[in-house]
Amino acid sequence: MTRPLVVGNWKMHGLSAQLADIEALGVSMTDRPAKADVLICPPFTLIERAARIAGSFVAIGAQNCHHETSGTWTGEISARMLKDSGASAVIVGHSERRQHQGESSERVAAKANAAVAAGLLAIICIGETQAERAGGGALDACAAQLSLSVPKGIAASAFAIGYEPLWAIGSGQVPTAAQITEMHGHIRQCLVARLGASGNAVRIVYGGSVKPANARSILALSDVGGVLVGGASLKPDEFEAIVRAAAP
Ligand code: PGA
Repeated sequence: MTRPLVVGNWKMHGLSAQLADIEALGVSMTDRPAKADVLICPPFTLIERAARIAGSFVAIGAQNCHHETSGTWTGEISARMLKDSGASAVIVGHSERRQHQGESSERVAAKANAAVAAGLLAIICIGETQAERAGGGALDACAAQLSLSVPKGIAASAFAIGYEPLWAIGSGQVPTAAQITEMHGHIRQCLVARLGASGNAVRIVYGGSVKPANARSILALSDVGGVLVGGASLKPDEFEAIVRAAAP
């Protein structure tokens, strides 16, 4: 079993004052360094400073990157720049970017490639809509997204999958244990079909309304290799409780 991966996605939240929360989390992790991989993804503006103060047991990542290494892309940030700023991972294909920035799965794959080329762990997000779930098409929708969003030839150690049903994000609604188990098992099958036995080593993290009250039971499900946390990652006590659920 690989260590669980606990990711805090701060989205468009966080100013200099919140760096103290990252520092405090780093200190609190010193008693359980080997039990979970903890990653905070603050906004771009905090990455470099966060990486300096996070300590050895909290890694810093980004929430997006551009698919090119450099060039005439005003306002964009490349994976190499993130690595240079101290990031070790990047979330690509979050549903908020797919929905609001029109990111296709092909573009997400290009971003994941750029991330891996820069030496970052790519956390590739997929997830079905409420309508797809209600219509019985959740497994197919996620398999289709997965097949286009995971770059060809990527090494199993270079990425993780974030399964985030859109209807669970920020809603307080969480899929049942059976639904999470079914979906993670399906994603696992797709990964093994794609990568062979090494597909078993890819961590599949669940995201969508993860809270201290449900983290432990979600993390106990088969093929759940961690959690991706939005709202609760902004509350230091709640995030630390989730980390402790992953690293008891
Ligand atoms: P949430 O967000 O935990 O607030 O539901 C999760 C995410 O969007 O990554």
